[in-house]
Amino acid sequence: MSVRPAHLLVIFGATGDLAQRMLLPSLFALARDGLLPERLRILGSARSALDNEGFRQLVAESVARRVAPADHDALALQRLLERVEYQPAAVDDSAAMAALVARVHELRGNADVVFHLSTAPRWYAPICAALAAAGLGGPGMRVLLEKPIGHDLASSMAINAGVCQAFDEDRVFRIDHYLGKEGVQNLIALRFGNALFEPLWNAQHIEQVQITVAETVGVEGRGDYYDDSGALRDMVQNHLLQLFCLTAMEPPSHFEPTAVRNEKIKVLRSLRMIERDQVATHTAIGQYGPGAVAGVAVPGYAEELGRESRCETYVALRAHVDNWRWSGVPFYLRTGKRLPRRCTEIYLQFRAVPHSIFAQAGARVEPNALVIRLQPEERIEMMLMNKTPGLDRGGLKLAQVALDLDLHERFSAHSRRLAYERLYLDAIEGNGTLFVRRDETEAAWQWIDTIIQGWQHGGMLPRSYPAGSWGPSSAVSLAERHGHSWRE
Ligand code: BG6
Repeated sequence: MSVRPAHLLVIFGATGDLAQRMLLPSLFALARDGLLPERLRILGSARSALDNEGFRQLVAESVARRVAPADHDALALQRLLERVEYQPAAVDDSAAMAALVARVHELRGNADVVFHLSTAPRWYAPICAALAAAGLGGPGMRVLLEKPIGHDLASSMAINAGVCQAFDEDRVFRIDHYLGKEGVQNLIALRFGNALFEPLWNAQHIEQVQITVAETVGVEGRGDYYDDSGALRDMVQNHLLQLFCLTAMEPPSHFEPTAVRNEKIKVLRSLRMIERDQVATHTAIGQYGPGAVAGVAVPGYAEELGRESRCETYVALRAHVDNWRWSGVPFYLRTGKRLPRRCTEIYLQFRAVPHSIFAQAGARVEPNALVIRLQPEERIEMMLMNKTPGLDRGGLKLAQVALDLDLHERFSAHSRRLAYERLYLDAIEGNGTLFVRRDETEAAWQWIDTIIQGWQHGGMLPRSYPAGSWGPSSAVSLAERHGHSWRE
């Protein structure tokens, strides 16, 4: 069914941190490059008692602060500001909500609308109910939701149920901003645009997979949210599991929403549960203490938070997909804050050669590996064994070298887009391929809940690791116990 582009974008939480850091700069970039529909208007809303001018000022400031100086464009900013207006509203203030929906009706005419909920998730169902009651939940209305959708399976189901009472599932767009990243798109292109990999992409040829999302930042003033959440809920439930799905899924028949999401959900449903008696051997958790990142001394998590806490800022997991393709292949997932460098990558280690003809000469043959680096730079490395040049009187010498593709360099003429630029355009155009379906979120929560219950049951607490290190030593043993080591 063809979908009309929306001509009104309503942002709830339009003065918040995410809006200022990502949403408003993304809209600016789209406006500057003429990518927004001509008629699109943007209505910001939040509790703050701003007027239109005050909000436009905030948009201009966030563009000034967040957009690289070379990309500033006063005329484009002016054109964006002309599309923007503001209507204050607290969700629990029915008069203010009534004024807001009245303004939405005036602005939309009979055009399609995208409602972007960038508020605390507990407001999602009430906002959707208010919109539906005002006749703004039917065909042509789409809703964009930020993560986290809930705190566990039960709360996520409750939020989804509330949202879906107002909006049909095919008009609910759940954001995982990792899916909007260029590198993540390229993972799909690499897997399904090349015939080379597919025959090798299975348990017969792959020994182990590692998915790493390492951050150097701490909790950055988000302590209240983060301390309630922890690395497992904040990063694994969504970003890591999405990367995992795209790495492990079967080829979809088309690059379109249903086909892609049907394959992702199969992976989530094939994920083996990590039961209570396995959490100690299949998971490792840590919390950063004081240390140094990139030569700069930083405080520990408890000090940043201002109190002691049991929250994990690092998690490593050994996961398995119980299906034909991946039987017996461990997927190691890890993420943490205050690690030595920022790096998101997928590492696939192939099986060793079945017999080394170089063994007598003492040369070691390392297994091949494919490294897909998603951030900070996009890079593909294929690790291959080669001969070290020389006359080899003492026997052949081999070295592992990378066939190294630097995508930034290769595509230097192309500008890099913020994830939200793509996600906004897709939502405005009604394309849900890069958004998360309800069953995906819920299957992910089910897997995460089992792990958390295991931790609680066994009284498992995070081990301390110095900021600037690769996490607690228990993470090292998690892989080494099975003869594998983390890539560093
Ligand atoms: C967010 C998490 O979803 O992703 C943050 O809540 C995390 O804790 C962030 O820092 C990482 O995103 P990116 O795009 O910087 O890798």
